[in-house]
Amino acid sequence: MCGIVGYVGSRKALPILINGLKRLEYRGYDSAGLALLQDDGLLISKSVGKIKHLEDALGDRSNSQASHGIAHTRWATHGEPNYVNAHPHTDNNCEIALVHNGIIENYRTLREYLVRQGYIIKTDTDTEILAHLIHFSYQGDLVEAVRGALTQVEGAYGIAVVSSLHPDLIVAARKGSPLVIGQGVDENFVASDVSAMLEHTNRVVYLDDDEIAAVTPNTFEITHIDRTRRDPQVEEISWTLDMIEKEGFDHFMLKEIHEQPTTIRNAIRGRLNFEEGIARLNGLNLQYDELRTISRIIITACGTSWHSALIGKYLIEEIARVPVEVEYASEFRYRSPIVDSQTVLFAISQSGETADTLAAMREAKKHGATVLGIVNAVGSTIARESHGGVYIHAGPEIGVASTKAFTSQVMVLTLIANLLGRMRNWSVAQGREMIEAVEAIPAQIESILANEDAIKAIADAYHQATNFLYLGRGINFPVALEGALKLKEISYIHAEGYPAAEMKHGPIALIDENMPVVVIALKDPVYDKVMSNIAEVRARNGRVIAIATEGDTEIADRVNEVIYIPHTHRLLTPCLAVIPLQLLSYHIAVMRDCSVDQPRNLAKSVTVE
Ligand code: AGP
Ligand code: GLU
Repeated sequence: MCGIVGYVGSRKALPILINGLKRLEYRGYDSAGLALLQDDGLLISKSVGKIKHLEDALGDRSNSQASHGIAHTRWATHGEPNYVNAHPHTDNNCEIALVHNGIIENYRTLREYLVRQGYIIKTDTDTEILAHLIHFSYQGDLVEAVRGALTQVEGAYGIAVVSSLHPDLIVAARKGSPLVIGQGVDENFVASDVSAMLEHTNRVVYLDDDEIAAVTPNTFEITHIDRTRRDPQVEEISWTLDMIEKEGFDHFMLKEIHEQPTTIRNAIRGRLNFEEGIARLNGLNLQYDELRTISRIIITACGTSWHSALIGKYLIEEIARVPVEVEYASEFRYRSPIVDSQTVLFAISQSGETADTLAAMREAKKHGATVLGIVNAVGSTIARESHGGVYIHAGPEIGVASTKAFTSQVMVLTLIANLLGRMRNWSVAQGREMIEAVEAIPAQIESILANEDAIKAIADAYHQATNFLYLGRGINFPVALEGALKLKEISYIHAEGYPAAEMKHGPIALIDENMPVVVIALKDPVYDKVMSNIAEVRARNGRVIAIATEGDTEIADRVNEVIYIPHTHRLLTPCLAVIPLQLLSYHIAVMRDCSVDQPRNLAKSVTVE
């Protein structure tokens, strides 16, 4: 999720490492650190906040002559973003230093084992456990020690490892989190992103999953974790730096839309127990009997997060039969809400810093409620002040218009609904059916993304409209709201979302050939009702863009445009139906020359009232 830079060669490592980290700053991070191999051992320096603070922390050590080291910018997933939890992490003798991107899923089990072996654990992170495990596996060969440790690890990682026992060697390994080797002259580089090394070399070798690299100033050897050797083909890349930071996408928003298969996998990673048909959400800090007795839930949020909250209501009420009220945080905080110790309040926030949501949560806490966070930014204020919660693990979301955070919020709410339902009347079979459908979602999103050109063509046909209407029913009514918000916030076109049936209570007066109507018309229990709404729109010369279920052969003749999405569990359709709406709004905004990543008047996190 964040940044790794490694250097081994004949030049001073420190400026190369620092400038490499600065090239990765765009990705967002909460802390940074580095390890240099000096004659007298490992020099470790870390800081919370920006890389400038890391430079300041170095002090007179900034003229280090070391020519070998690793560095990291952290986006915390396990353990607050503070000095102690910042990377690099070391073994107890400070002979091995490690930086890591990703999540070690089984770190608790490994931690217990290592403590029994006498290791002293100093931080709250999953990463530190891996440093001790490598030490535990070390018998003189650092590559083999890394290999031995990684065979015991479950989860996703990109790591770089150095040791004072092995001058001029960096061991890198990848599984699920990108790593690339840069080939220089009498020097080599390791990084999570080419942009960190592009000023030094454009000759690169991308590691594949389950590969381990031994990198020295003049060589690099790559083996699979099962020891089979790989004959690396060096690529010469011609991308510009700006292109690389967005990984070839024109905007961060588009990159983040395309990241959703990965971010959904990260949201569910280690949280599904298929055997029992149940989600595992230890972070809620609630025992099963507490979960079983919850009788009232409030979900509070703002903007896109409020839309995912509405979906959460449909999910939890239908699956767990627990009443859920959804509240705009800005309204809740100033009402005299009826809240007591029997109330559970979920605060949903990508940034974890939204002022209204934080105030609403504090208000509920004052009245004795149990407050739980559904947050992306680990260690953010909402996360720290809640009694528990679930991190969505979407990684830094740079585009102001929220996309990947929304789908991961909805996925986490789905897991919460499953857990509460299985505490009540939901059967193992129902739970398993849901889990199977959840596991298929990332690939289904990929199939929708593969259809982007068709969606772009529709954007081209409608990008000059001045008003849009978005209609949906049931669990996809909030998706209509989200689609309208996406369009208005990045293209500045006025757009409104409505329950489809509400049309005849006013909005239908707006319908004419100049007002495109986007309708979520999936094959579900209200399909026929939605088709009637579409007919009402067409009867008034309205132009209809339908989001439909693959295999629906009748809808194409009854609308102007149709975008198909794969069939899934009825309660999981929002994660799929929203993808075309994200792409439609993105391409319309681009065609209107709008500032997609930083729309006018908007901030990524509204930390003021
Ligand atoms: C959504 O695209 C907007 N960026 C905005 O509505 C956002 O969802 C809202 O400000 C809430 O932010 P949060 O999730 O960080 O609390
Ligand atoms: N899971 C690790 C941590 O929380 C790595 C986070 C990252 O990818 O930056 O420290």
